[in-house]
Amino acid sequence: MSDISLGVLVSGRGSNLQAIIDAINDGNLNANIMLVISNQENAYALERARKAGIKTIFINPQDYPLQQDYEQQMVSQLEANNVELVILAGFMRILTPYFVNAYQNRILNIHPALLPSFPGLHAQKQALEYGVMVTGVTVHVVDEGMDTGPIIMQRAVDVLPDDTVDSLSERMLKIEHQIYPEAIAQIIGHMRPVGDL
Ligand code: GAR
Repeated sequence: MSDISLGVLVSGRGSNLQAIIDAINDGNLNANIMLVISNQENAYALERARKAGIKTIFINPQDYPLQQDYEQQMVSQLEANNVELVILAGFMRILTPYFVNAYQNRILNIHPALLPSFPGLHAQKQALEYGVMVTGVTVHVVDEGMDTGPIIMQRAVDVLPDDTVDSLSERMLKIEHQIYPEAIAQIIGHMRPVGDL
């Protein structure tokens, strides 16, 4: 069975990207990362990718006043590198229907909340401000809405009485690093059933 080709979109520190790289290197995920694309030139995620010998591309949003032109550039890079499954790993840019249609049902995202609660930015802060006692992490398929696509995997995280955004985010991040590679492996299993060549 041949490995699935991944393209990972990032904007920042890239700890989820690192978890995926590690899972592949440890033999827990049958995939190859063909390409990492960032919308931030100085994203540490790019450094992590380079260290792992993965091709990186910075696509500057300022070069593309129209969002669809920006996304067309991403799609052509992903296609040129034979990417089959797109992984959003802290990619902080809303995708339009153009991009979602180009990779329909083949874009995954991780979100630091138990969706449909607390979509959008600052999910951990939203959870603390609301006063929930349990929050968590969601991996879902990306559709045209904001954090609304079909859920693939979720894991709960207790909110502790003294939690700050930082302490809660740190605990949640460890869970993110566990479930993102697991969820990707699950989707890959559906894309290439065992026995496929
Ligand atoms: C992660 O906590 C991820 O869940 C979140 O950004 C962080 C990226 O960290 N994503 C979102 O909030 C998407 N709405 P990383 O760059 O270290 O992987």
